[in-house]
Amino acid sequence: PLDPNIKKLLGRMTVEEKLGQLQQLPWSVSTGPGGSETKDVEDAARAGRLGSVLNIFGAKSSNALQRIAVEESRLGIPLIFGLDVIHGLWTTFPIPLAQAASFDPEVTRRDAEVSAKESRSNGVHWTFSPMMDVTHEPRWGRVAEGCGEDPYLTTAFAVAKVEGYQGEDGAGLDSKDRIAACAKHFVAYGGAEGGRDYNTVDVSESRLRNHYLPPFKAALDAGVATVMASFNTISGVPAHGNSHTLTDILYKEWGFEGFVVSDWNGVDELIAHGFAEDGADAARLALNAGVDMEMASTDLAKHGKKLLSSGRISEQRLDQAVARILRLKYALGLFEHPYVDEDDAIDKPSAEAREAARETAARSMVLLKNDGKALPLKRTARSIAVVGPFGDSDDLLGTWTFPGAAKEFPSGKVLAAVKAAAPHAKVTYAKGVNAEGTDTGGIPAAVAAAEKADVTVVVVGEPPVMSGEAAARSDISLPGGQEKLIEAIAATGKPFVVVLVNGRPLTVGSWLKSAPAVLEAWHPGLEAGNAIADVLFGKVNPGGKLPVSFPRTVGQIPCHYNHESTGRPYSADNKYTSKYLDLPPDPQFAFGHGLSYTDFEISEPKLSRERVSAQALRKGDTLEVSVSVRNTGKRAGDEVVQLYVHDIAASIAQPVRKLRGFRRVTLEPGRSKTVRFRLGAEDFGFWTNAESGEFRVEEGAVDIYVGNSSEAEAKRRLTIT
Ligand code: IFM
Repeated sequence: PLDPNIKKLLGRMTVEEKLGQLQQLPWSVSTGPGGSETKDVEDAARAGRLGSVLNIFGAKSSNALQRIAVEESRLGIPLIFGLDVIHGLWTTFPIPLAQAASFDPEVTRRDAEVSAKESRSNGVHWTFSPMMDVTHEPRWGRVAEGCGEDPYLTTAFAVAKVEGYQGEDGAGLDSKDRIAACAKHFVAYGGAEGGRDYNTVDVSESRLRNHYLPPFKAALDAGVATVMASFNTISGVPAHGNSHTLTDILYKEWGFEGFVVSDWNGVDELIAHGFAEDGADAARLALNAGVDMEMASTDLAKHGKKLLSSGRISEQRLDQAVARILRLKYALGLFEHPYVDEDDAIDKPSAEAREAARETAARSMVLLKNDGKALPLKRTARSIAVVGPFGDSDDLLGTWTFPGAAKEFPSGKVLAAVKAAAPHAKVTYAKGVNAEGTDTGGIPAAVAAAEKADVTVVVVGEPPVMSGEAAARSDISLPGGQEKLIEAIAATGKPFVVVLVNGRPLTVGSWLKSAPAVLEAWHPGLEAGNAIADVLFGKVNPGGKLPVSFPRTVGQIPCHYNHESTGRPYSADNKYTSKYLDLPPDPQFAFGHGLSYTDFEISEPKLSRERVSAQALRKGDTLEVSVSVRNTGKRAGDEVVQLYVHDIAASIAQPVRKLRGFRRVTLEPGRSKTVRFRLGAEDFGFWTNAESGEFRVEEGAVDIYVGNSSEAEAKRRLTIT
């Protein structure tokens, strides 16, 4: 039933005003092609023909625009302001992919809480986050924005992030430190062919439901306020015109109570997709499929009235979309408190928020290799060389950051942090090559620095512009001559370690063999340098794990741990099996991989029972899997215990493994802990290809693997009767 306030308001609105609520225009920054003049945005607000503005922040400027809508428009309906606060507004946390590597959803909850507070105080009510596109495509630049290749891991992070932004169950959206979240991009965007942004996706219903939809469903259950449609087609039908996903699944099957916003120009792009004939057709198709608000393009505002009078859209559907949007405005308290207190605006990261960003960044780093315990570095080293394009760079924030964050950066540089961590050492710096790898003229100076030092830290990677939206790469190795720098340092024969800063999995070249230690730091955010130094010098013992597989070469893509079984699984002894002639069958680094400065032993898993009935599982029965994990090394550290299942025979070919449990534990040396996982129908069942949605738990054998990566070998067999 419609809220009486909304009903009353709807009754007073003209068609133009209703269509206006469905319009979102960009303010001064464009995050897509084109944009709008601020004057036009103000005029639309004054005329009551605008529902929302994106890319505006700052208490003063947002209040000024809000004042126009509230005090100068006929009905005074407040605007809702949206912004891509993906991993922080002032306090830039590590990129979402890095956060996923922590295997600790609490870090993302904290990012979201800090982001919500900073954003709301600056007039931002709504973030276009979390991004929950599961992807097998490291070439896709947007892999940086999500949680990688696994739906289960992505789901856990999506829920924590939604709750962090909105408060649990959506309660308290009107409070000063909460903002509305947006589950994006709906849906299957991570399947873009070849990892090229905006590209086609052809996906079966079962893949859609088993792989791409679970994080969205969980975000909905956590009360996410909005959903954003994705740029891709879904088996031929663009997501913005897809009533199967936007209406049948989202609203009818799942009972979504929020609204759907288009992506930037996503409505108008139905024309370029070859799906709509013109702007009017695009508006009709999008609204009728389930899009409620149009971002950037203006087809609904322009053509809505005519579409309505010719019966191509219904008044009922228009009112429904308006009501959904107004509902969120009420929930956010915008009618009572449209403005923010300009004296309370947070204009820089607090010390506490910086500390959280630093802890999160260190917690997200993954020790890929550590031969001969090259790491941690000794604080007593007499001389340390820092080399590489990111050794003294402030370009470590990652994609989707705000200009204001950069001014807070300087203490985040690696060189400064290494100097602070080893105050008695002589620390030198040489860039060697530039970030794009095009200028290698500095390599001799870097070699000279390495030759004079006890140890060299080589900081290489991708600049953040090489990941994020519209940043697909066909070659995902270190850009240009950066590999040459590592090879030149290796050739000195002196000790060195490599730190990678990047927004996606990289293919590591032959330099990997000569590098004793490699630390994956991702794009660590505002506290990059300090967090990297914390891990390099052992103040923090790394415990992150890869949320994505690292392929050996681009030709090995798709290369993900949760692929389906083939009829001819790889065998070294048989030519006629699924493989490349010129590559080993496994990735360079597997999903879930990550080392520590200490050692752990994980016991064989124990099942609370070895048989369980499918019927009982469907009714809610569960079983317990327990393992004991022990720190067998000499220092405290974290291990992520991971549980995978494999359904041996099912009516639809199943992934060779799928993650169904993980727990990050901290253990002092010599100590052990029992980790218990509870598994039920959700963990053993799967969605079939039925369009109406059919979830099956079938009888048969299931292998349950537990260990510290997706390559875990210890297993127990469960029989589902
Ligand atoms: O939120 C983003 C989306 O993820 C990609 N296109 C632009 C939007 C608004 O900036």
